[in-house]
Amino acid sequence: MKAVTWQGPRNVSVETVPDPVLQQSNDAIIEVSSAAICGSDLHLYEVLGPFMTAGDIIGHESMGRVVEAGSESHLSTGDRVVVPFQIACGDCFYCRKGLQTQCETTQVTEQRSGSQLFGYSQLYGAVPGGQAEYLRVPHADYGPIKVGEELEDHRYLFLSDVLPTAWQAVAYTHCEAGDSVAVVGLGPIGQFAARIAKHLGMTVYAMDPVAERREMAARHGVHVFDSGDESVSAIREATSGRGPDAVIDAVGMEAHGDAQSALAKFAQRSVQFLPDKVGQPVMAKAGVDRLAALYTSIDLVRRGGTISLSGVYGGQASPLPMLTLFDKQIQVTMGQANVRNWVDGIIPLVEDHSDPLGIDDFVTHRMPLEKAPEAYSMFQKKEDGCIKVVLNP
Ligand SMILES: NC(=O)c1ccc[n+]([C@@H]2O[C@H](COP(=O)([O-])OP(=O)(O)OC[C@H]3O[C@@H](n4cnc5c(N)ncnc54)[C@H](O)[C@@H]3O)[C@@H](O)[C@H]2O)c1
Ligand SMILES: [Zn+2]
Ligand SMILES: [Zn+2]
Repeated sequence: MKAVTWQGPRNVSVETVPDPVLQQSNDAIIEVSSAAICGSDLHLYEVLGPFMTAGDIIGHESMGRVVEAGSESHLSTGDRVVVPFQIACGDCFYCRKGLQTQCETTQVTEQRSGSQLFGYSQLYGAVPGGQAEYLRVPHADYGPIKVGEELEDHRYLFLSDVLPTAWQAVAYTHCEAGDSVAVVGLGPIGQFAARIAKHLGMTVYAMDPVAERREMAARHGVHVFDSGDESVSAIREATSGRGPDAVIDAVGMEAHGDAQSALAKFAQRSVQFLPDKVGQPVMAKAGVDRLAALYTSIDLVRRGGTISLSGVYGGQASPLPMLTLFDKQIQVTMGQANVRNWVDGIIPLVEDHSDPLGIDDFVTHRMPLEKAPEAYSMFQKKEDGCIKVVLNP
């Protein structure tokens, strides 16, 4: 089959690789019809090189049809399914608490990481990913979300990651209708976090340096601002001078902006080209996260407010302004999204014909799988108005 593979920093290629086969009785094999590229894939593309091996199949936002179902998979050939980005058992201590990204059955203990993720480096189990013609789905008795036949792929596809991630980001703000929320970063995650907060009755402000990303959010009733100190002041003014009740950081470790981020960018660039044995410990000890968006969030949120981090951070020694965090009495919540914990609440919105979350206004580019190298480059550089790419194998 054809699959998108990681070959080195900023280098992906489509290769012919062996078709996946059933390995456990609760596995299933999916013929992929749509696979999206995520902002998290950009971290592999650029920063997380020390944890990748040339030839790794990437991608974790996939859906398609079951072509082979293990006897204990609870699926049948022909079922149309969306595959959550994490692999979880559904039955352990953490899964029963709704913390599927911490699943004790699939935890990558040798890396001290949470549950396995599709196509997401040695840190998360080096499981072959879903930007491919076929995908082996372990724990298919629990993970895959069976969907109907009526709607097109793009209405369901984002149940794999973007929608539950954005939903969790909003849930973790602990805000309710009438509260104010600011979203920092209007990539795919920020777009839906903003829309979900709006849908739940919050007043939503958002910042992003990219004009067409601001325009998309504005179409959905979000008050939009460029990134930078003037925007922080403007949002603060609009929230009685205090700042919003919560801020969602939907940027993560590759933020653009301040001096710290420029230094960390240099560290990230250097680490990528080190041999893995040298690069991995550097990632663990050096301040390699670019923290501009997190610093903005800390500055912006009101005293006693909440910062909900959905952007992924990867360094172990990132400098944080503890004095400000403590003095402002800020609560910080974060984590990979627990997909299965949220999807039942989201599916009615996805299937609602009035499209309350505006999912029809989201995908900017659809491309054949073979065009993955161009798609990655365009998405990373934000060229041609690119906000979300779907690859069709
Ligand atoms: N928690 C989870 O489970 C989960 C799931 C998916 C993605 N993510 C993470 O969420 C983050 C966003 O993902 P995405 O798909 O939306 O990707 P993205 O890279 O397209 O979005 C990031 C956005 O942030 C903007 N930005 C950069 N620096 C900024 C700054 N200083 N201030 C304001 N905006 C700034 C960029 O212009 C861009 O629009 C990534 O870190 C990704 O890894 C987390
Ligand atoms: Zn993703
Ligand atoms: Zn589990």
